[in-house]
Amino acid sequence: MPAERLEFPAGFLWGAATSAHQVEGGNTCNDWWRFEQIPGVIRGGRGSGDACRHLERFDADFALAQADGHNAHRLSLEWSRLEPARGRFDPGAVAHYHEVLASLRRRGLTPIVTLHHFTNPLWVADAGGWEARSTVDAFESFVGFCAREYGHEVDWWCTVNEPEVFAFRGWSEGLWPPAVRDNSRALQVLAHQLEAHGRAYRVLHSEDRIDADGDGLAARVGFAKHRVQLEPLRQWHPLDQMQAFFENRVFNEAVEQATVTGTVELSIPGARSVLRELPELKGALDWYGLNYYTRWMVRSLQPVPHVVRPGALLNDLGWEVWPTGLQRAILAAGRLGRPVLVTENGVADATDRLRPRAIVEFAEAMHAAIADGANVLGYLHWSLLDNFEWNDGYHGRFGLYGVDFDDPERPRTRRRSAEVFARIARANAITDEARAAVGE
Ligand code: GAL
Repeated sequence: MPAERLEFPAGFLWGAATSAHQVEGGNTCNDWWRFEQIPGVIRGGRGSGDACRHLERFDADFALAQADGHNAHRLSLEWSRLEPARGRFDPGAVAHYHEVLASLRRRGLTPIVTLHHFTNPLWVADAGGWEARSTVDAFESFVGFCAREYGHEVDWWCTVNEPEVFAFRGWSEGLWPPAVRDNSRALQVLAHQLEAHGRAYRVLHSEDRIDADGDGLAARVGFAKHRVQLEPLRQWHPLDQMQAFFENRVFNEAVEQATVTGTVELSIPGARSVLRELPELKGALDWYGLNYYTRWMVRSLQPVPHVVRPGALLNDLGWEVWPTGLQRAILAAGRLGRPVLVTENGVADATDRLRPRAIVEFAEAMHAAIADGANVLGYLHWSLLDNFEWNDGYHGRFGLYGVDFDDPERPRTRRRSAEVFARIARANAITDEARAAVGE
């Protein structure tokens, strides 16, 4: 018996997501590049280097997305390329991103443009990075520049990517630059990123007055939130419950609520709390960008507080593949009263053994959330290409297309996942043809 055909709303966005530093190659002027030179910090010892050479190959890469029926693409503008020194914009880099945006438009891919995806120009990092309020000012002027320069080509703006991941990885866990381990400083950084989002929201709306796609809206501004699902490992254990509750509060709820209420209220036991009213942040959200990957089970009083559920299906990085979590995350995000755009979702899976089925199941979960009343605008799969996966170097392979990092001239390798995704995107529905392409 054929399974049900599950339709998505008209105009649904289907595409893939990337970030500049992970795909472009040669981003030598940012803090990540410098960090990658420290022995031992990147798994396998290989830094971003040439990455996917997307800097040169972007048009051929977008051709793959176009051929697969994508109608949108999320990318980021590399701040360190565009503004290598404070207030000095590089004309070559500015022209480069015009070419990138023109290529997307030619290929019928709506650009969703992220303005901060983890990396910082060296001059920002060396002037105190995100602990310094001056960085919020510097980011605001960078955003203003982008709005004026690219506003006629871009309507969908994503201010900051995963401010909570950025703050905790860099300032609490010490795994990312600047490798600090201090929760109080992490909360400051998170507050500054939220403030930066609020200011960017205002600037984008005031400076981008040109409706690039003719739908009557010149700027639609959101941010991307990593909404991990956190659950007590032992459901009955009050300390596990409490820890999961407080982590969810600071990592998920406090961050997303700040973008609507304008109140930044962050606290972690033992750290200096932050309480700030930011008028520019109040109501600063046209859409909620949801990055969803996995759930972690939380256990109290243990050196490793997060573990996977026993018996869970795991990706190559040891994260649980749990599609129902996407439905839950969408519904939780939707409680803010803003439409949700899935800005990232994917599976690290070098051999493509899990991803084809996962794509169908993630799409089903998203469909179920819509049936439950969620307003979902689209889905951007992480990622179009295998790319530089931060601390995990080239170990996390998330691409619909494989990349040969030893021979960057080689064409990309099309995975079965790309076909499954293409069938869903082209039909704007989960069909029997898409399910058949899973091919197990
Ligand atoms: C997100 C991040 C991406 C990508 C992905 C897979 O947290 O925004 O840059 O690395 O995770 O780990």
